[in-house]
Amino acid sequence: MLEELKEANSYVVGKIKEKDELILELEEYARENNVPIVTKEVAEYLKFMVDINKTTNILEVGTAIGYSGILMARACEKYNGKLTTIEIDEVRYKEALENFKKAGLNNVNAIFGDATDEIKKLDEEFDFVFIDASKGHYREFFEDSYKLLKKDGIIFIDNIMFRGYLYKEYPKRFKTIVRKLDEFITYLYEEFGENFALLPFGDGIGLLKK
Ligand SMILES: C[S@@+](CC[C@H](N)C(=O)[O-])C[C@H]1O[C@@H](n2cnc3c(N)ncnc32)[C@H](O)[C@@H]1O
Repeated sequence: MLEELKEANSYVVGKIKEKDELILELEEYARENNVPIVTKEVAEYLKFMVDINKTTNILEVGTAIGYSGILMARACEKYNGKLTTIEIDEVRYKEALENFKKAGLNNVNAIFGDATDEIKKLDEEFDFVFIDASKGHYREFFEDSYKLLKKDGIIFIDNIMFRGYLYKEYPKRFKTIVRKLDEFITYLYEEFGENFALLPFGDGIGLLKK
């Protein structure tokens, strides 16, 4: 999360009174086991976007334990929507399968594999894509999924400002990722202009409309 926004985030999160037992359980599990999941305020915004877009077919890149997947699959149920989600880590993939089952969802297609390969194998159109996996591959995830995106569809990119390292000092080991993300943002503004928005909340969100 962007360091500068921590207090604002605490305020927002304090206002959200989560009642769903499974969601609370997954949030606690993620905290205790260091599983990176979307921050609470981003989760709220993600559900909102899926809903206002009347989304019927979602692609998620980076399932982890299924937390954001459950939120999105639930949010699109009223539009008879479904979710395809891809995870490279087998342990997390299996945990996600269990969690989708616990959530009672039957509109989820969970794929185990590397999204750099798996997106290319998909042969369907999506109206909402959520990119939340390895940042070094964001441009590839974006370009591959853009090809599958319907006109007016949305791509929602999380963590695009990478803890604020794009505009402040960062540990040397992140040099390549920081450069790639910065170039990616420049590319998005240059290629998509008014159809791209960069929102500095959470860990930075990129929004693209086709
Ligand atoms: C930030 S977590 C996803 C969190 C999840 N979207 C949520 O908010 O509940 C990123 C996940 O992407 C997975 N991942 C990383 N690189 C990947 C790749 N190339 N293909 C598929 N999954 C990948 C990681 O194993 C990790 O579980």
